[in-house]
Amino acid sequence: MSTTPSLSPFSQGPRGLTLEGVALADIAARFGTPTYVYSRAALVAAFDAYRHALGERPALVCCAVKANSNLGVLSVFAALDAGFDIVSGGELARVLAAGGRADRVVFSGTGKSRAEMRQALAAGIHCFNVESAAELDRLDEVAAALGTTAPVALRVNPDVDPGTHPYISTGLKSNKFGVAFSGALALYRRAAALPNLRVCGIACHIGSQLLDPAPVVEAAGKVLGLVDRLAAEGIHLDHIDLGGGLGIRYRDETPPTVAAYLAPLLELFKGRTEALCFEPGRSLTGNAGLLLTRIEYLKPGEEKNFAIVDAAMNDLARPALYDAWHDAVAVMARDLPPQCYDVVGPICESGDFLARERNLAVEEGDLLALLSAGAYGMSMSSNYNSRPRAAEVIVDGDSVHLVRERETVESLYALEKPLARE
Ligand code: LLP
Repeated sequence: MSTTPSLSPFSQGPRGLTLEGVALADIAARFGTPTYVYSRAALVAAFDAYRHALGERPALVCCAVKANSNLGVLSVFAALDAGFDIVSGGELARVLAAGGRADRVVFSGTGKSRAEMRQALAAGIHCFNVESAAELDRLDEVAAALGTTAPVALRVNPDVDPGTHPYISTGLKSNKFGVAFSGALALYRRAAALPNLRVCGIACHIGSQLLDPAPVVEAAGKVLGLVDRLAAEGIHLDHIDLGGGLGIRYRDETPPTVAAYLAPLLELFKGRTEALCFEPGRSLTGNAGLLLTRIEYLKPGEEKNFAIVDAAMNDLARPALYDAWHDAVAVMARDLPPQCYDVVGPICESGDFLARERNLAVEEGDLLALLSAGAYGMSMSSNYNSRPRAAEVIVDGDSVHLVRERETVESLYALEKPLARE
């Protein structure tokens, strides 16, 4: 199977590491650090890979907003007529603010509130991916109160092991997601009978950072069996949503290309009239972005050397949370013997590391780029230790657009107030 070369918009030259044509050192000088840097060309290429692989087949590619919810990034996809997969009213608001189309939005998630349902119905989204019987009843009730009909798909849990990190596998019986496969038929009958619902699809998402399409194909086969049983009962679906999940190369993984990942699925659904829907996140934005940070101190130790940088686990949580590996690259090559460092941040936790045991030829003040940080990087950041969140920029050819200003400290406590003294 062919593999994806990590979409590499980066190259090393006399001006150090560059993204498209822009030197990261110039970005750091202009916007400071830490800063998330994305390549527009890489975002577009990643989305196009899905469009090309799907060809003329009726299909909707819904970018998973949770992977990267920056308005600038979303607007790049909106300009390509993308759909969006959301999991909250906040994400819906972002999609609309970025110029995305409501009628291309699918709404996943286990805990949709009444207010979020109202918001999504008013906006006119494409479909609610309903995850429980109780949610189905609530949606019918909310739609009735608005005098409208809600488009629904059931997110079924196919009980397939995706073979990925336990925190990011979602299609097992033991996971909280989706409705049990065994009860799905009965629930569809109930949905079809509810007056304010319009059954239009089926959805399934089994996990993330998948390196092998086989479990998705297995899940899709189960879904297809169910679609046919439903049709036999007169419940006809317009679309089949196979979720997201395609993995990327962080280190030495060999994920299939988008085309190779989709090929067996397209084969399985050949000749069928239902539209196919996908919800990719990581494979669209992951390798289109990096986190640019500066080394504050080098701290040699008896057992370990530390490179203490100005980014931390609050900026990029994945290493601390999943022991995830992100490549750490010196922006300027130096003629020094490399030394082994743990790249850590200023946060008061031993879990505050971004990369461990890396050979780097660096000095204090040097810039480092943490690669493959475009997905679940900024979107999972926090203000822990009262650290203002990073700036975000998009490089487009030789222009650089600031798409999120660095937070100010004052903005962190703008909604708070000290208790008045007696
Ligand atoms: N659709 C649904 C219903 C999802 O739950 C997810 C991801 C996606 C689509 C997008 O999946 P992707 O194509 O990005 O694999 N924070 C973790 C990843 C959590 C994924 C959660 N759901 C990480 O940093 O690895």
